[in-house]
Amino acid sequence: MASPFRSDILKGKVALITGGGSGIGYEIAAQFGQHGASIAIMGRRKQVLDSAVSALRSLGISAFGFEGDVRKQEDASRVVESTVNNLGSLDILVNAAAGNFLVSAEDLSPNGFRTVMDIDSVGTFTMCHESLKYLKKGGPGRNSLTGGTIINISATLHYTAVWYQIHVSAAKAAVDAITRNLALEWGADYDIRVNGIAPGPIQGTPGLSKLAPEEISSKVRADMPLYRVGEKWDIAMAALYLASDAGKYVNGTTIIADGGMWLSTPRR
Ligand code: HXC
Repeated sequence: MASPFRSDILKGKVALITGGGSGIGYEIAAQFGQHGASIAIMGRRKQVLDSAVSALRSLGISAFGFEGDVRKQEDASRVVESTVNNLGSLDILVNAAAGNFLVSAEDLSPNGFRTVMDIDSVGTFTMCHESLKYLKKGGPGRNSLTGGTIINISATLHYTAVWYQIHVSAAKAAVDAITRNLALEWGADYDIRVNGIAPGPIQGTPGLSKLAPEEISSKVRADMPLYRVGEKWDIAMAALYLASDAGKYVNGTTIIADGGMWLSTPRR
């Protein structure tokens, strides 16, 4: 689908996207690139990164891939430095890396719980923390008035409760708290806007194929306000809005992009 945004809305910006090698992260990388940004993607798997970088470059996008695990502070720091060294600055950080599997609370080990908290929550904070010096107003390559922006990919699981997702629900609740608290502290001190996006079920993602392939395509669909699963494109458009000047007065919010699904209950 053609973008409703002008193709230069991110011209001259540099975006670093964790989990940018696949799924929603890749689509955000591709759309940011097609709207003028230079792109760095971070991920654990070299092969996935290499093919994503080739695909981005074939779209005419200036793109680099950096291997790293958001759970490791040294990786976060190295990838942020590599981004600035290769692309000249850091203007937009998107935290899209996430871990997930279906398991009942009874069968989930504390280490399994901790693993997802480490990736989604601690990883998000660590990336923000390591990026701060480049995102803040007056930082290297930045004027004294304008800071960069952060987008954290969240979920709607924790608004209610979802079977076999206690670890992810807890982790995304923490992500939303990180979004609000950084928006407060870093908005006030450094002119950095920090927002989130909570996607609903999105077709063609590891999340959907792993979590609810059959249910979503049949039973649940009948109860969804927009009667369809979303597309990665829908999330990338929300990200473009938040990252561009269109969203310049938006700070500390998490946009729900799920067609209203989290509100729905079975039809009576
Ligand atoms: C139960 C599991 C498990 C499973 C791992 N663990 N997989 N427990 N069921 N299927 C437990 C392990 O037993 C171990 O605990 C602990 O977690 C760490 O496991 P490792 O395999 O050592 O961890 P690691 O190799 O680091 O892998 C972590 C991972 C990650 C979370 C499994 O690789 C992963 O999820 N990758 C897939 C990424 C993905 O699907 N992303 C999309 C996210 S979708 P013990 O106690 O045994 O040591 C999303 C959307 C949410 O976030 C909203 C949807 C609507």
